[in-house]
Amino acid sequence: MKVKGCHFETIWINPDNPAIVQIIDQRSLPFNFRIEDICSSEEMYVAIRDMHLRGAPLIGAAGALGMYLALLEFKGNKVPLEYVASKATYLKSSRPTAVNLSWAVEREEREIKETGSGGERSKQEVVEVARRVALEIIDEERTNCLKIGQHGVKLIEELSRRKHNETINILTHCNAGWLACIDYGTATAPIYLAHEKGIRVHVWVDETRPRNQGARLTAWELQQHGVPCTVIADNTGGYLMQQGHVDLVIVGSDRASAHGDIVNKVGTYLKALAAQDNNIPFYAALPSSTIDWLLSEGAMDTPVELRDGDELRIMEGMNNGRITDVEIIPAGIPVLNYGFDITPARLVTGIITERGITPANKKGIFTLFPEKT
Ligand code: MRU
Repeated sequence: MKVKGCHFETIWINPDNPAIVQIIDQRSLPFNFRIEDICSSEEMYVAIRDMHLRGAPLIGAAGALGMYLALLEFKGNKVPLEYVASKATYLKSSRPTAVNLSWAVEREEREIKETGSGGERSKQEVVEVARRVALEIIDEERTNCLKIGQHGVKLIEELSRRKHNETINILTHCNAGWLACIDYGTATAPIYLAHEKGIRVHVWVDETRPRNQGARLTAWELQQHGVPCTVIADNTGGYLMQQGHVDLVIVGSDRASAHGDIVNKVGTYLKALAAQDNNIPFYAALPSSTIDWLLSEGAMDTPVELRDGDELRIMEGMNNGRITDVEIIPAGIPVLNYGFDITPARLVTGIITERGITPANKKGIFTLFPEKT
């Protein structure tokens, strides 16, 4: 997608030096646009853990490229499978909730194991496998998001027809935009496509406390594309719904169960409750890499990140041209900072995937992905 008119994706291998992975450092946005060099698997671990990059599909790609860096940095000509397994475990532990990370790293591990036989593999060979798999994942996720957009835009077209081309107001939570993916985004892909088609859309962007991914990232990327949007405090959505100012809710997801529960940024569940109470369609947009096929009975057992309390205590912003931190909670007060919550399938109108839109239930999901039964 575009940054000041130039096309960017979120992660790539440096074309001039294949030992370096480059990312957009999301911690600097929206104030500065900075590219960061990631030169080792340790640096990738830190980048994922400390959210230099974030968003489920993107941390999957980052995990795969972390495996590539881990193999590149291996000293010796033969790589033992124990080394591959330990690096995989290490990278997967950087963030537990988004299943895309373990999905991508385990895919790397599997393909590396399938290369050759016995306990050791030639370094040159495994580096090439890891690079290929990571680039395949990036390619697939880019395409998946575009397809999510193509399916999801039909919902917006239908609403626009029903509203006689009046503006369609879409509420979203957190950043499930292109910054969270490779390109297009998940929740935002249908919105970008609708905007390109000339459909009048306006996005209510939840600020998404405590890290403000909505205010800082979603608002910024929509603005770069000229999509009209308004940032709202997280608690405003319910009132806007009651007043008839929301036509549709689209959120992303970090992990979905095969029976339709949606794990997403904390606060999503409350939006789903309000949407149901006001009869407003509530959709989750996600690629199949976000479906945890082992959770066929529901997502309540998902490991939900309990994050550092400083994310709540301290707010970062721009003051007189300088990025500044301010404390907003009285010293000594305990805080509790869960990163995600779980929206039960019964509150989800449908799931927008790369293969189409399905009701949030086992039957619909397995009809789209029969190979997973
Ligand atoms: O903690 P984050 O910012 O990595 O959270 C992930 C998210 O951005 C959201 O939950 C998003 O809706 C799903 S990722 C497309």
